[in-house]
Amino acid sequence: MTATFAHDLLQDRVILITGGGTGLGRAMGERFLQLGAKVVIASRREALLRTAADEMMAAHGGEVLPIACDVRDPEAVDQMIDAAWNHFGAVDALVNNAAGNIAAPTERLSHRAVDSVLGIVLHGSFYCTLALGKRWLTAGRGGRVLSIVTTYAEGGSAYVVPSAAAKAGVLAMTRSLAVEWGPRGITCNAIAPGPFPTKGAWDRLLPDPALLEEAIDRIPLRRAGEPVELANLAAFLLSDAAAYINGDCITIDGGEKLKGAGQFAWMGDLTAEQWAALEASARGTKS
Ligand code: HXC
Ligand code: NAP
Repeated sequence: MTATFAHDLLQDRVILITGGGTGLGRAMGERFLQLGAKVVIASRREALLRTAADEMMAAHGGEVLPIACDVRDPEAVDQMIDAAWNHFGAVDALVNNAAGNIAAPTERLSHRAVDSVLGIVLHGSFYCTLALGKRWLTAGRGGRVLSIVTTYAEGGSAYVVPSAAAKAGVLAMTRSLAVEWGPRGITCNAIAPGPFPTKGAWDRLLPDPALLEEAIDRIPLRRAGEPVELANLAAFLLSDAAAYINGDCITIDGGEKLKGAGQFAWMGDLTAEQWAALEASARGTKS
C-alpha cells in the first residue's frame, strides 16, 4: 500500500481533519503524513488528540497539530481554524470527517438526539467549510474540501435518519459549493464509504457479531473496507492528480450500495437447486 503513490504526493500540504484522532480520520492523517503532508487533527477530546498526535508523529515523522474543538460551536470552529492557520501559515485542505450517529427507531429519538447528530454532521461540516472557505477567498487562493459522507446520503436510510438527513445536506453543500467556489479555485468533493471497521462506528451501530456478519454478507466483495483503502482514495482526491475532480462523490463500499439497489440482487442467495428449478420453470413457459 505504501508504494501506491509517490512518497511526496502531498509534500508540505497542510490538511485539517475533523475527527482526526480516531478511526478513519486517523487513518487518513497517517496516510497523509506518509505522503509528506502536515496534519491538523481536531475533535472534542483533547487528551485523546494529544496521544494520537504523538503516536502519529512517532510512527511517520512530520508534524501533527492537535486542537480541541467541538464543531457544533461556530466560534470554537473559527478559533480552531485561526490556530491552525497561524501555526502553519495557511491551511490547504479540509477533511470534514467528524460525525455522530445513533441507530434507533426514529420515534424513540428526542429532539436533543436529532440536534446532536445534525449539529455534528451538518452544522459542523458547514461551519468548518465556511470558516476556511472565507479565509481562502479573502486570501485570493484556492483550497480543497473533502467531506466524508455515507452511501445512504443519496437515498436515505431507515433507523439512522438524523445521520441520513445530515449527510444528504453535506452532499448538497459539496455539490453546490463546487459550482459556487470552483471559479475561485476551491474544489469540493465527497467520499461515501460503506462499512469500515472502526471502533467509533461499529461499537455504536453493529456491536452484535451476528449483525456484523450479516452486514458483511451483504457486501459483494464479502469483506469490510480497510481504512488504508479509504485513506488512499482521500490522498488521491487531495493531490494535484485530482485537481479537475470537482463536485463529485466517490463511493468505496465493495459494491454494497448497488447490491441493495438491484431488484433481483437477493438472487445471490439462491442455491444451485433453486436456480435449476427456476431455469426449468422458465424454459417450461415456452410450451
Ligand atoms: C436514543 C440517544 C442514543 C441512543 C444518545 N441519545 N444515544 N437516543 N438512542 N442510542 C440521546 C441522548 O439521550 C440525548 O438526548 C441526546 O441523544 C444527546 O446525547 P449525548 O450523549 O448527550 O450527546 P453527545 O455527548 O453530544 O454524543 C453525541 C452522540 C454520540 C452522537 C449521541 O454517539 C457521539 O458522541 N458520537 C460520536 C462518534 C460517532 O457517533 N461515531 C460513529 C460515526 S459512524 P436527551 O433527550 O436524553 O437529552 C457514521 C456512519 C456509519 O456516521 C455507517 C456505517 C456503515
Ligand atoms: P469515529 O471514530 O467515531 O469518528 C468520529 C469522529 O468524530 C471522532 O474522532 C470524534 O472525536 C469526532 N467528533 C464527534 N463529535 C464531534 C464534535 N462535536 N466535534 C468535533 N469532533 C467530533 O468513526 P469513523 O468510523 O472513523 O467515522 C469517520 C467518518 O466516516 C464519519 O464521517 C462517518 O460518518 C464516516 N463513515 C464511517 C463508516 C464506517 O463504517 N466506519 C461508514 C460510512 C461513513 P471526539 O469524540 O473526540 O469528538
